[in-house]
Amino acid sequence: MFTTNKIANASKFALLIILLSVSFVAKSETKKADKTGILLVSFGSSYPETRATFKNIEENVKAAFPEQEIRWAYTSKFIRKKLRKRGEQIDSPAEALAKMGEEGFKKVAVQSLHVIPGEEYENLKKTVVAFSGIPKGIEEAKLGAPLLYHHTDVQALTEVLLRNLPSDMTTKDALVFMGHGTQHTANVYYPAMQYYLWQKNPNIFLATVEGYPELDDVIEKLDQKKWKKVYLMPFMTIAGDHARNDMAGEDSDSWQSQLEAKGYEVESVLSGMADQNEIVQIWIDHLKEVFQEMNIK
Ligand code: CO
Repeated sequence: MFTTNKIANASKFALLIILLSVSFVAKSETKKADKTGILLVSFGSSYPETRATFKNIEENVKAAFPEQEIRWAYTSKFIRKKLRKRGEQIDSPAEALAKMGEEGFKKVAVQSLHVIPGEEYENLKKTVVAFSGIPKGIEEAKLGAPLLYHHTDVQALTEVLLRNLPSDMTTKDALVFMGHGTQHTANVYYPAMQYYLWQKNPNIFLATVEGYPELDDVIEKLDQKKWKKVYLMPFMTIAGDHARNDMAGEDSDSWQSQLEAKGYEVESVLSGMADQNEIVQIWIDHLKEVFQEMNIK
């Protein structure tokens, strides 16, 4: 049985514990948090039309991480040089990380805006590893996965793409996505995507500019059926040079011209995947994984 005195003692003890933990929390909150930030890395583009897409990515990232400072870097030396001539200064990933280290950032989450984990992504990874743990610089830098990495990414992207087909597209029409493609083993993501798309919609095709499958492989399949119209859409982050020239260009070797020469009615859609917020969200999920790994609040 408790006496009143015992209860009083017990509550005094509880009060002490509460006071102690309150002062402990206050103390850890006054300790200045490490400066953290985000570095978004794209191949880059010199087409002014792509600016809106980059802006859309930044706005989505800003909404997901309102406390974080966001910086940009382009991996393409050719594009950085071209932009510099126009008076636009965009850093390389190494330049951006060196600057952030100099400005006191302790943890930097680098997000690749690439589509597959190919050569571009691997090179970026090397840079990020090299800038992680530099004395008096960045203590920890980590790289977020490209759009397609986990098995669930391929599933998620398939769902989003099929949900957002051109609004006037009918079941009598076909759509061909233009992927970049590479000689790197990560090219397997393209035939993998085609497999997933076909499970849900046999009218959707995917070909690449520099890898497998090629446009000819897709044309062979297209020719087996009669289509009212064929849509072309970039399976790329932005609708840049490949989309505007290799896909929709007026030259006879563009995909649009090749398909038109075969008698197809063709409509090119000039928007990048990063124009769709639901797709940007997949990149943001990868950025969130990095934040968790680095224990940034
Ligand atoms: Co290219």
